[in-house]
Amino acid sequence: MTSDLIMRTPLIVANWKMNHTIEESLKFATYMEKDFPLFGKVETVICPPHTALYSLSVVLTEHGRVKLGAQNCHWEDHGAFTGEVSPVFLKELNCEYVIIGHSERRQLFGETDEVINKKLQSVLENEMTPIFCIGETEEERKSGKTTKVVTAQLSKGLEGISTDYLSKLVIAYEPVWAIGTGNNATADEAQEVHKTIRNWYTKQAGDDIARKTRILYGGSVKPDNIGEFMKKPDIDGALVGGASLKVDSFLEIVNYDNH
Ligand code: PGA
Repeated sequence: MTSDLIMRTPLIVANWKMNHTIEESLKFATYMEKDFPLFGKVETVICPPHTALYSLSVVLTEHGRVKLGAQNCHWEDHGAFTGEVSPVFLKELNCEYVIIGHSERRQLFGETDEVINKKLQSVLENEMTPIFCIGETEEERKSGKTTKVVTAQLSKGLEGISTDYLSKLVIAYEPVWAIGTGNNATADEAQEVHKTIRNWYTKQAGDDIARKTRILYGGSVKPDNIGEFMKKPDIDGALVGGASLKVDSFLEIVNYDNH
């Protein structure tokens, strides 16, 4: 277990969703980069709205402490897809991560496992790291289907993706009932599903890759519960929505180890 933890750098990702203007984003990132001394051991990523990516890429590249991610992209590199953003454009902006398959994209914008599979492939081909989101609804959990749902999302989402690419993914377990509700999974509940995910990954990609793959928890992560999650052996970080919108709260989460 100790060697696994050494192998997996903790990763904390801010998912701002459709929040923060360019001005607000810049203020946040500048404060974080310049004025805050800690978060040494943790890899930190901000995923702002697409409109703020360019401005943030300038600030973040200059200081290099916080990395940049996008919340979504199309699977094609170019073409007649009005309103969509290509992974090539994100790469050009120094995005290192792209969130794929968030439950809001699945539920509100009709993204299917097949679409998510194409997007994962495309992000990997464009040399960025997908943060692949999976998770069950409340009804599915209550009827005992969590393992079935999560492993089906994994196998459909990753169908045909090479072992080499499987070693470059981050997975985020985000139970739908915990997102934006304040009703987080307990650390034990999350650990149980993370273990299931890692076991599935071991079968699919081999022990070595599975032990190196980071699995994040997401769903009502806050400064006062992050510490509990991070103590668990298969939880390697967090995808944070609401509590990432205020810089002080996000910094508390990133510095969970220094409280
Ligand atoms: P939340 O969102 O932290 O506001 O629950 C998490 C997410 O949707 O990634």
